[in-house]
Amino acid sequence: MDNTDEYLLHFKGYNFERSLCDIDQLENLDDFEIRDDDVFIVTYPKSGTIWTQQILSLIYFEKHRKRTETMETLDRVPFLEYNIRKVNYLNRPSPRLFCTHLPYYLVPKGFKNKKVKIIYVYRNPKDVLISFYHFSNVVVRLEEAQDLESYMERFLDGKVVGSVWFDHIRGWYEHRHDFNILFMMYEEMKKDLRSSVYKISRFVEKDLNEDDIDAIVNQATFQNMKSDPRANYKAILKNEIGTRTDEGHFMRKGTIGDWKNHLTVKQNERFDRIFQRKMKGSTLKFIWDINEG
Ligand code: A3P
Repeated sequence: MDNTDEYLLHFKGYNFERSLCDIDQLENLDDFEIRDDDVFIVTYPKSGTIWTQQILSLIYFEKHRKRTETMETLDRVPFLEYNIRKVNYLNRPSPRLFCTHLPYYLVPKGFKNKKVKIIYVYRNPKDVLISFYHFSNVVVRLEEAQDLESYMERFLDGKVVGSVWFDHIRGWYEHRHDFNILFMMYEEMKKDLRSSVYKISRFVEKDLNEDDIDAIVNQATFQNMKSDPRANYKAILKNEIGTRTDEGHFMRKGTIGDWKNHLTVKQNERFDRIFQRKMKGSTLKFIWDINEG
């Protein structure tokens, strides 16, 4: 551990959310015993984590699709590195579903057997910034954002949970051949949820019929998740994570291009310059606007 503050735990070059971490568990992550049929969602924060948790849980659990049982999605797809609702999360029957914000170089070494399935979801970083900015003012476990100008600097410097966005995405993308990984883009999921559900279900080798796909798409839309207490983590956010006000939630806007409502021309130009420099040479595609792509 080389640096700490009230909210962040800096460990092996990466910022974790301090209050949800157990240092011994982090020390032992490398040796975390994985099973070949484990499935992991990997994201930088605010890139569509709970959305993909919902989709994956719907793909795997008929009772979720048919709404015949009520179980928190986070119990079906718990975090690997954070201590929140980790009830029996190791001894679950296979295949186990997990999610994580870990950078590529901190995942358990078993990931490199190329059997574990990894779904990496990424989102254009201007919308990530705006989503994170709002979320920081919602959640008591995150350092409050004073104003967007200063928050943008904090985000670009990586003084946030998840560290530098550019490092996270470039790291995973450039090391993709070391893993069995599917890259999903938030904006493509938004534009064509049905195709995205197909893509994910093919990747995890789950044969679903049209009715199943209909049920998944229907329960994974923004509107339906927003009004579904299990999908939107309302109770978890309030009771276990802790919010600053009653207004705070995960399901904020769920759109593409909300950054245009927030960034000034100057801030946007600065962001663009940094993006060009940091992403130079990368072949990853991005969608910045709802009318694009
Ligand atoms: P906004 O704050 O821009 O609305 P994460 O789960 O990684 O924390 O990401 C949260 C972001 O994903 C929020 O973005 C949230 O609204 C969005 N999101 C969650 N479910 C969604 C859905 N079904 N469709 C579109 N966006 C969704």
